Amino acid sequence: MFNTFASGLRNSIAKISPVKLLASTAICYIILNKGKLLVSNKKMLCRDKSVLNQDNQTEYFETIDIQEMMKTYPNLTIMNTKSVEMLIGLIRDKNLEVKDFRFYSKRLLRLIIEEALAVDCNVEIVRESPLGLYKTITSTHKMSDYVAVSILRSGNSMVDEIVNIVPEIRIGKILLQRDEESVEKNPIFYFDKLPSDLKGKRIFLLDPMAASGGSAALSIEILLKKGVKEEDIFFLCLISCEVAVKKLFSKFPKMKIITAKMDPVLLPNKYIAPGLGDFGDRFYGTKM
Ligand code: URA
Repeated sequence: MFNTFASGLRNSIAKISPVKLLASTAICYIILNKGKLLVSNKKMLCRDKSVLNQDNQTEYFETIDIQEMMKTYPNLTIMNTKSVEMLIGLIRDKNLEVKDFRFYSKRLLRLIIEEALAVDCNVEIVRESPLGLYKTITSTHKMSDYVAVSILRSGNSMVDEIVNIVPEIRIGKILLQRDEESVEKNPIFYFDKLPSDLKGKRIFLLDPMAASGGSAALSIEILLKKGVKEEDIFFLCLISCEVAVKKLFSKFPKMKIITAKMDPVLLPNKYIAPGLGDFGDRFYGTKM
C-alpha cells in the first residue's frame, strides 16, 4: 500500500518541470516559515541554520558596506570596532538572559555615547603629556549645553549610561507608540516632558533601534518646533538600517546619526534583521 503511494508520488514529481518544483519548494518554505522568508536586494537570506545554499553552506545575513554608507551620508557615523562587534554579537543571541542582555547592551551604549561626544568635538588643540606635546581634539561646547531626549520606552535604557558620562546633562522624554494597526506602523504621539528652554542646546536623541525612522523623525519635528537647530541634533542608536537613515537624512540633512551597527534588512513588520528582536522587551524582560 505504502509502496504504491510512494511510487505514485515519485512518478507525479518526475512529471513536474524543475522550475515548477523549485517554485513550489519556495512556496512551501514561505508557508512553513509563516511568510517570513527573508529577501534582500541581492539574494535570499536564510534564518534557519538547517537551510543550505547551492554550495552546501549555511547562508548568513549580508553585511553592509560601511565605508560606502558613510560616503553616501556624510553625517552618519557607523562604529566599526572589534569591541562593538563583540558586544553586538553577544546581545543578538536569542538565548541571552535578561540580566546579561542588560549588562552587555549597557557596555555598548556607553561606547556609543562616547562616540557621539567625540563626533561633537570641533577643534584641534595641542596639550602636553609628561613627555612632550601632542595634538588632540576637543569640544568648545559646555557639558551643561547637552540635553538627552529619550524616546520611550527603549530610549530610557540609555539614560543611566549618559548620566554616568555627562553628570550635568538634562533629560527630556517623548512618549510615542507604534500604531500596530497600520501597515507602516506609524508612530503616534502621546506625551513629552522636555527642559523648558531648548534653544542653543545640543540634543542627544536616544532610541536603540532605528527601524523605519518614523519615531525619530516625529521626535525631531517636536524638537525643531521648540527651537532646537537641526545641526545640533545627534541621534544615538545601537542598530539602524538604511531605510531609517535615508528617511532621516532626506528630511533633516544637517542632523547627525551615530549608530553602532547598520543591518541589511527591514522586515515588513518593521523589525530589523538580523537585529536583536524587540529591544524594550529584552532589556526590560517584558516578554519571556
Ligand atoms: N524596535 C525593536 O525593538 N526592534 C526592531 O528590530 C525594530 C524596532
